[in-house]
Amino acid sequence: MSTTYGEPARYAPAMRLLHWLTAILILGLFVAGGWLTYFEPPDGPFKEELYNLHESTGVTVWVLVLIRIVVRLATGAPKLPPGTPSVVRVLATLNHLALYLVLLVQPMLGFADANAWGAPLTWYGLFRVPSPIGKQPDTVAQQFSDLHWFGALALLLLLGTHIAGALYHGLIRRDGVVRHIL
Ligand code: HEM
Ligand code: HEM
Repeated sequence: MSTTYGEPARYAPAMRLLHWLTAILILGLFVAGGWLTYFEPPDGPFKEELYNLHESTGVTVWVLVLIRIVVRLATGAPKLPPGTPSVVRVLATLNHLALYLVLLVQPMLGFADANAWGAPLTWYGLFRVPSPIGKQPDTVAQQFSDLHWFGALALLLLLGTHIAGALYHGLIRRDGVVRHIL
């Protein structure tokens, strides 16, 4: 992935685009999800729209992550600078793998959550997303809700360490790693 002119190596353009597009969508998911759960809008069309926006965007993220994994396998990643301590290399790899895992599982939990409560999803109001499960007893649905909550927490913790890692590279080591993704 390094270039001939000694410029810093970067991810393929599609990877960079998908990285920042996903980041913006995830931010929106936390805003909408947090709003729904902690600021409970009154029942009505606005609440319905907010649920649909959150759920449709979550499904969109899932599809984008699948595409991203294929692009990643096809285009690879730039190497970390030679002086990078091995513990940093290992932590970075684990952080990225865990992020991909949670980004795949979390939308599936949300989707199971919504369908188990008896709320099938029409993607941005356009078409019904087929679900393998329908309405479940409340105890089962509540378990999916709990798992979706834990998934959001896991994602927050992983993003916290991810951003701390980016700050470490950008401000402390100043080793050009942040430019990989810009
Ligand atoms: C990466 C994708 C997603 C993220 C980061 C995310 C994040 C969140 C967060 C932070 C909340 C508020 C905390 C909570 O109550 O759990 C929430 C709630 C919720 N999310 Fe998601 N979500 C995602 C995908 C989805 C999808 C795809 C669906 C459904 C198709 C969905 C359905 C729900 C529902 C129904 C709630 C309301 C509370 C509940 O019943 O759990 N989410 N989500
Ligand atoms: C929802 C938000 C984000 C998600 C889900 C996310 C996820 C990821 C993933 C999975 C990778 C690994 C790419 C690969 O090798 O396949 C990555 C790389 C990277 N991310 Fe993020 N990221 C997010 C936000 C951010 C932010 C806010 C920053 C900067 C402050 C950032 C900086 C970086 C950098 C510098 C890399 C390249 C690391 C390297 O070259 O080894 N990311 N991101």
